[in-house]
Amino acid sequence: MMETKEIIRNYWDHRSEIYSTGIVEYSEEERIAWKNMLASKLGGRKRLEILDVGTGPGQLALMFAEMGHHLTAVDLSASMLEKARKNALQRSLDINFIQGDAENLQLPDAHFDVVSSKFLLWTLPDPKKALLEWKRVLKKDGMIIAIDGDWYSSGIFLKSIRTVSGLIRSVKERNRHDPFKNKYQLIKNDLPLYSLKPGRVFGLLNDAGFEEINIERMDSLCLSARKHGSLLDKLDYSHPIYFIRAVKK
Ligand SMILES: C[S@@+](CC[C@H](N)C(=O)[O-])C[C@H]1O[C@@H](n2cnc3c(N)ncnc32)[C@H](O)[C@@H]1O
Repeated sequence: MMETKEIIRNYWDHRSEIYSTGIVEYSEEERIAWKNMLASKLGGRKRLEILDVGTGPGQLALMFAEMGHHLTAVDLSASMLEKARKNALQRSLDINFIQGDAENLQLPDAHFDVVSSKFLLWTLPDPKKALLEWKRVLKKDGMIIAIDGDWYSSGIFLKSIRTVSGLIRSVKERNRHDPFKNKYQLIKNDLPLYSLKPGRVFGLLNDAGFEEINIERMDSLCLSARKHGSLLDKLDYSHPIYFIRAVKK
């Protein structure tokens, strides 16, 4: 039987074809709102060494690079990295892209000021190991910035929303079967944050030895995505999305 991580990599390799380029395609107004929010979370600090894990097509990495930071970006999927490289080239941004595993980074100790991730925690088989890795590569006083949602909670309203978005995705992908369901149904029980609850994330960060842990709902940017985004964005951003920040002391 295929390993969980192999299933995840295969899924995202396949999905990279049609995965929304998201913020890369956002209006300039929305990109500015995101960058302002990120700058405030970084306390206005400039030219930081930032590692973006699970970068996908590179939305977060691209925005940080445009803000003048020095970026390394890691993803498990070679096809996603290809997209990310194209997106960076389009914007003339110099980002060091590396194929790798967020739970087992081939990167030096105490090198980064920030480790960021967007929509990655939920799909990690061992988030505890990942957090310890992120802590290892962070400098003292470095911080984690993680953005993620409770995409797969069992509430009836959100479940109905997911049925609709699954159908839309299947039609868009001209696939009778929902490829997400096919793959993640097999492995969801191996993913501790598949239904991501802030209390659970807080506990994991605390156990990993992080301090100044802060987890808050990202309601204003979600409202904006629901207002300006595609129908799929509107559905996806109906889920609670959290901004998670923690510091290595
Ligand atoms: C939902 S996408 C998010 C992509 C991007 N960060 C965004 O905000 O749209 C999840 C990404 O995480 C990557 N990924 C999944 N597991 C990973 C792991 N263990 N290490 C590195 N990347 C991983 C996938 O290949 C995919 O590109």
